[in-house]
Amino acid sequence: MKLLRNCSQLVTCNNEDQTPKTGDSLKRLEMIEHGALVFEGETIKWVGNESDVATQFADARFEEVINANGMLVTPGLVDPHTHPVFAATREDEFYMRNAGKSYMEIAEAGGGIRNSARRLRQANEEVLFQNGIRFLNRMLRSGTTTAEAKSGYGLSTESEVKSLEVIQRLNGAHPIDLVPTFLGAHEFPDEYRSDREGYVRLLIDEMIPLVAKRKLAKYCDIFTEAGVFDIEQSRRIMSAAKQHGFELKFHADELKSVGGAELAAELGAVSADHLVYASDEGIARMAKAKTIAVFLPSTTFFLGHRDYAPARKMIAAGVPVALATDFNPGSSCNTSLQATMTIAAIYLKMTAEELLNAVTFNSACAIGMQKQVGSLQSGKLADFVLWDAENYKQLPYFFAQNPVTSVYKRGQRVV
Ligand code: NIG
Ligand code: FE
Repeated sequence: MKLLRNCSQLVTCNNEDQTPKTGDSLKRLEMIEHGALVFEGETIKWVGNESDVATQFADARFEEVINANGMLVTPGLVDPHTHPVFAATREDEFYMRNAGKSYMEIAEAGGGIRNSARRLRQANEEVLFQNGIRFLNRMLRSGTTTAEAKSGYGLSTESEVKSLEVIQRLNGAHPIDLVPTFLGAHEFPDEYRSDREGYVRLLIDEMIPLVAKRKLAKYCDIFTEAGVFDIEQSRRIMSAAKQHGFELKFHADELKSVGGAELAAELGAVSADHLVYASDEGIARMAKAKTIAVFLPSTTFFLGHRDYAPARKMIAAGVPVALATDFNPGSSCNTSLQATMTIAAIYLKMTAEELLNAVTFNSACAIGMQKQVGSLQSGKLADFVLWDAENYKQLPYFFAQNPVTSVYKRGQRVV
């Protein structure tokens, strides 16, 4: 057994039930001042006040006592939307946008996701794996201990399978636990530009059944957007995915309002992500269906857009909310949820308590991992972060600096 003691605040993000936090429970941050935590192997055994350790564990001998030195401790952060499998970065597009080209103009001219697909198809698995390790290391050093990981830069059966196999290998090789998502419906590849129906059929008839049969992904995701997959194509593809046993996620209403939020709610998706232009009707339906809104404000920021997701409206409507980095080489080259929290504080007007819940318990719910991670409770994994901060309000406030001092994953010190 090991003991973690001398925390100024032990932010537990505790939740009585397994459902995502909304309303008052979202506004409240569960924590223990002068808290302590006991864990054995990879599992948390006890969480409480440090003053109770002596009586609770009178006969215990701790094999290690970790002194948090009066710092803040939180659960390991959970990033529920990332695209970490790619062959090459796309910094040129960043400068093209800053010089006035839009994300969609670059995409329509053959850049963007198709640019990444051309590169990924040529790359061998080793390159993808090494790139993945490099960026997962950055995530881990920023306090992320669990993440969702999407394919979506292959856009062919062979290259999508290759990407998902890389995710599987990364999951085994790296301390971060990864939850895999199939995103074959990320864009129409070059060879199907004039036969879009052909690609929809390939997804429905070949890729989805194969990925399901080989159990390579838990979720199926799609880029439902003007100029990419329209609502009818999205409904067909995602209904097929559901029939094959996938749980659903959507890239919805990011650049235009196309009814993505409504469709996600209609199909019972676990989450709809982006949502910058979600309609009032879509918001109401998401609240009713308990579809989690995953906001990706570092993407809006990095694209240099003015409009951010209507987070306050969605929170007021009772939609459960989470935050993610959307880490990818195009629209959000950000591996830090702490940076995402800063941007969400400024532009989504979320409070410190909401932000912390949105990168821990609620983000765990968005990837179905709330029984294992997302809060510091007895029985869950001993995933926690020690921060060079005096209180939780300093996390979104310290910007463009990384206050992580150590990260524990499954009871092991990994940073
Ligand atoms: O979530 N919007 C679609 N997918 C990614 C961007 C992928 C890319 O540009 O490579 C996103 O922003
Ligand atoms: Fe994304």
